[in-house]
Amino acid sequence: MSTARAYPNIALIKYWGKADEELMLPAAGSLSLTLDTFATTTTVALAPDADADSLELNGATASAEQLRRVTRLLDIVRELAGSAVHAHVVTRNEAPTGAGLASSASGFAALATAAADAYGLDLSPRDLSRLARRGSGSATRSIMPALAMWHAGDDEQSFAEPVEGPDLRMVIVFVDESHKAVTSREAMRRTAATSPFHDAWIASTARSLDEALAACADDDFTTLGRLTESNALRMHAVIQSAEPPIRYLTARSIAVFDAVERMRADGLEAYATADAGPNVVVIARPEDADAVADALGGLGRVAVVGPGPGAVLVADSSSSTTDLEERA
Ligand code: PMV
Repeated sequence: MSTARAYPNIALIKYWGKADEELMLPAAGSLSLTLDTFATTTTVALAPDADADSLELNGATASAEQLRRVTRLLDIVRELAGSAVHAHVVTRNEAPTGAGLASSASGFAALATAAADAYGLDLSPRDLSRLARRGSGSATRSIMPALAMWHAGDDEQSFAEPVEGPDLRMVIVFVDESHKAVTSREAMRRTAATSPFHDAWIASTARSLDEALAACADDDFTTLGRLTESNALRMHAVIQSAEPPIRYLTARSIAVFDAVERMRADGLEAYATADAGPNVVVIARPEDADAVADALGGLGRVAVVGPGPGAVLVADSSSSTTDLEERA
C-alpha cells in the first residue's frame, strides 16, 4: 500500500489544446505554480483478489467515469510493472472538485506517484511527470514544486521541470464553487475542432511561454504578470469562440479582473488569471498579497496561497489514512 500527496497548480501560461489525445501531448508548452494548499492525498492498495479496480473519492464511491480515468492510468502502470493485479484507490481532495482549481492536477499527480510505488516501479520525477500526464495534462506539472514548465514534444520529451523565477503569491477568489458545466477535456476538443482562432492561440502561447521564461530568468515580476493576464484572457477568448461557445468566466469573475485593473491603476501591482472555471486567481508579490486579498475580499471568499512542494510519497500511510477518516 502506498500513499502520496500532491498539490494543485495554477498555470501562468496555459495548456489548452492537445497535439495527441491518447498520449496527452500538449500543442504548446505551459508554465505554472504548484501551490502549498488544497492537497490531494491518494492511497493505492493492491487487491490481488479483486477482478476490477475500485475508487473512493472524498469518502464516497466514485462515478463510473472517474473510475474509468483512474483505471486507464493504472493500466499504464501495470504495463510498465508487468502486473495484472487490480487496485483499491482512496483519494481525498482538500479543494472543491471541478471548480477550476485543477483538482485533476493534484489528483493524477498523487495517483501516479502512489501507483508507481505500489506496483514497485522506481521512476524519476521526470518519468513520474510523464506518467501523471497520461491522467490529466495539468498533472504533469504538479509532480514538480513551485514554478514548473511543461514541455511540448513527443512522449519522451513531454515532461515538466522546475524553473527559477520571482517569488509569487496567489490570491484565489472563489466566486463560484459549484461544479463546472463542461469538462476541460471536452472543451479543449471543441475549441480545437471549431474555433477559427485556435491556431493563432497555440502560436501566441508558444511565444508567450518563451517571454515568460525570459521574465522568470530576469526575476521580472511585472513582465511575468502581464504575460499571465493576457494569456488567460486569450485562452478564455478562444474557448468562447468555440461552436457551440463555452464561457467559464461569469459576471463575478469579470468583476475581479476589473478590480485588479483598478488596483494596478492605484499602484498595487497584481495580475489576474483563471483556469477552466469561474474562480479567479490573482498573482502578487509576497509583500503585497495581504493587501490584494483585503481589496478583493468583497468579491468572494479569498485564500492566499504560495509556492508548494512537488508530489511526495507519504511515508506513514497509516497515520494519513486515519487523518483522512477523521475528516470524512
Ligand atoms: O486539468 P486538465 O489537464 O484537464 O487541463 C486544464 C487546463 C487549464 O487548467 C485550463 C490550463 C492549465 O494549463 O492548467
